[in-house]
Amino acid sequence: MNNPISIAEQVYWIGVNDRETALFENLWPLDKGVAYNSYLIVDKKVTLLDTVKINKMELYFEKVRQVLGDREVDYLIINHMEPDHSGAIKEAIHYFPNIQIVGNRKTLEMLQNFYGIDHPFYCVGDGDILDLGERKLQFHLTPMVHWPETMMTYDQRDGILFSMDAFGGFGSLDGGIFDDEVNLEFYEDEIRRYFSNIVGKYSGMVQKALKKLQGLDVRIVAPTHGPVWRENPKHIISLYDGWSRYEAEKGVVIVYGSMYGNTAKMAEYIARRLSENGITNIRLFDSSKTHVSYIISEIWRFKGVILGSCAYNTGLFPTMETVINKIENSALKNRILGIFGNYSWSGGGVINLEAFSERIKWEKVGESVEAKSSPKEEDFKKCDLMAREMAARLQDA
Ligand code: FEO
Repeated sequence: MNNPISIAEQVYWIGVNDRETALFENLWPLDKGVAYNSYLIVDKKVTLLDTVKINKMELYFEKVRQVLGDREVDYLIINHMEPDHSGAIKEAIHYFPNIQIVGNRKTLEMLQNFYGIDHPFYCVGDGDILDLGERKLQFHLTPMVHWPETMMTYDQRDGILFSMDAFGGFGSLDGGIFDDEVNLEFYEDEIRRYFSNIVGKYSGMVQKALKKLQGLDVRIVAPTHGPVWRENPKHIISLYDGWSRYEAEKGVVIVYGSMYGNTAKMAEYIARRLSENGITNIRLFDSSKTHVSYIISEIWRFKGVILGSCAYNTGLFPTMETVINKIENSALKNRILGIFGNYSWSGGGVINLEAFSERIKWEKVGESVEAKSSPKEEDFKKCDLMAREMAARLQDA
């Protein structure tokens, strides 16, 4: 086994990679795997911060033993109860019967409901401090980022913020653990995919949490997924801040559902017109092909969104229905919308996208374009207008 990885004096990363699980939460593709990060502080009191998913338990306890030898663990701090982090709690109690579990009132309730655990529990409130000897840990309750019990733990000595899911994302840690050791472009994409699909719905609560943490001197961000940020922790905090304010870059995401290629043809046309009008960031997705989690992540990134659907049994094309359901469920705000589509014998695509537009209340550009069976010259002209209007709006935005 590799040597233990130290993130500060006597503080160890004891995370594990999962490249076997196909879907996170049985929903989100893990094409590039995921890491479950846990941390171990060896002070006068030995402390674990979060555990890992149950499928990686054996390797996890090997890592704990590698650092500790026969020494016992005194505390297990539970920042978040979702089973990718709480999965090994029962086993931790089995290995270390004298361990004391540390969490808040809501953690306790979930411990009992999920695992029927009835074990010595130290209940902490906002701002409480746990003295480990050399180090003092302060607890910051950050409810609904993205579960009710979520909290963060701050190490006052080295400014380490153990931030649970916040600032973390998909992607296994393939050798590099720290932000200065990895290709950040890859991880930033995967962190935004995690944020937009899992945490983004609670952006208001993320903003509250960020305000609460503002006064802390954070020198290391140690999340439960993805890299540990020691070189530039402010960078990931600032990305999170922007995403949870619904800020966006100049660019357009076009997503379509097409049965026979006619809606796809319109999408290609609009993309080219956007390019001719100076838009360089254009992402074009076939919703039948690309998983919705990647599409949502790009929509969270860019200001312009153009949605196209053929009619399908008098309704929206099913994969486009999935896309708009996910957008509405995420409650994403401040985007600019264009709509197009196609029908053969009954409408259903465009009319439902228009109903979505009414509900979501994003600014709309151009007239919705609906072609009959295949797009004709007049349909392309309307697509042209929509693309020009979108490009012009983005120049001003
Ligand atoms: Fe990484 Fe909300 O679980």
